[in-house]
Amino acid sequence: MGGPGGLGLVQLRRGKRRARGEPLVGDYTRVALQGSGHGVRIALPAGLMDTLTIRRPDDWHLHLRDGAMLQAVLPETARHFARAIIMPNLLPPVVTLADAAAYRDRILAALPPGMVFEPLMTLYLTEGTDPANVAAAAASGLVKAVKLYPAGATTNSQSGVRDLARVMPVLEKMAEIGLPLCTHGEVTTPEVDIFDREAVFIDTVLDPLRRRLPELRLVMEHITTGEGVAYAAEAGEGLAATITTHHLILNRNHILAGGIRPHYYCLPVAKREKHRLALRRAATSGSPRYFLGTDSAPHVDALKEDACGCAGCFTATNTMSLLAHLFEEDGALDRLEGFTSLHGPAFYRLPVNQGTLRLEKRPDQCLWPDKISSDAGPVTVFNPGFPVHWHVVA
Ligand code: NCD
Ligand code: ZN
Repeated sequence: MGGPGGLGLVQLRRGKRRARGEPLVGDYTRVALQGSGHGVRIALPAGLMDTLTIRRPDDWHLHLRDGAMLQAVLPETARHFARAIIMPNLLPPVVTLADAAAYRDRILAALPPGMVFEPLMTLYLTEGTDPANVAAAAASGLVKAVKLYPAGATTNSQSGVRDLARVMPVLEKMAEIGLPLCTHGEVTTPEVDIFDREAVFIDTVLDPLRRRLPELRLVMEHITTGEGVAYAAEAGEGLAATITTHHLILNRNHILAGGIRPHYYCLPVAKREKHRLALRRAATSGSPRYFLGTDSAPHVDALKEDACGCAGCFTATNTMSLLAHLFEEDGALDRLEGFTSLHGPAFYRLPVNQGTLRLEKRPDQCLWPDKISSDAGPVTVFNPGFPVHWHVVA
């Protein structure tokens, strides 16, 4: 999919990939994508295969929830990912070191026997957060970041920050000790159009904050706009941006044209096609400023398919196959490892994983369940709307 309805270019070749700009020669095969947007079909010549082995990936933005949902979704991530930054927006939120330690224990207790996974915990920043508790959390090694939710911006953000001035002592402490702040980068002002909320956040909140506290290490979570891409590109090593799998696939037409598709509704909401393409260029650029944060955010179907549906796409199950597909499409398979396995650890100052993940491109399509079941109800797995052939094999 070179964009909905476009002409896709799929490289089918063993070994070396095409250098950027090099003419198409040899056994590269051009494949027309039929249809528009989702539902495109690719005709793959049978018998062709390719393999890719990368360092085991990490997910730098993940919602695992709690209880029955945690039990159901954790294996979906742990199957492919060694570690993940765990979002703290539970009800009640994960605010203190004690909360994070208890949540981490619940996550590890929910891990099926034989699976190895390290949850990297975060604290939910509130206007009552104690800088000393944050410093102790960082010193313990258990907490790797603090999450800023502007109050009202997204799921369970009602305990978030209304007035940044009130959390300045915490942010100053974080700048001093090098603990990163993960930002949900949208303003919540009702007058600001929902499609402009990220760009306005950058201008009115993020940039002033960085000018005031240049030493604060900062992650722009799940960027969705060309403005977000450009801001991260110009920043130094103290700022990075995560990009989700679904924002590399969806534009706003996918949510709204031809019927409303609640399973494509997430926050920040997917934007125009030009923004999706900017995200694709950023993710596949090889720049260490960008890395994967799936923002896989499960909600049971009853809450998604509702008159006022919850925001969130559940992508843990098929993210790695989808990313291999997208990076291949963009002639950047050799940059997938940087995006999923190297740039994140470099920013968070953590070692890269020792294990590997192997993917194989096969003529047969990847098959995922439409839904996974949980004791809380079914959860729909993200449907990219096109066939994918990169199987995770080990
Ligand atoms: C997330 C959730 O459901 O917790 N939803 C989403 O659409 N991404 C919250 C968030 O990250 O904004
Ligand atoms: Zn999220």
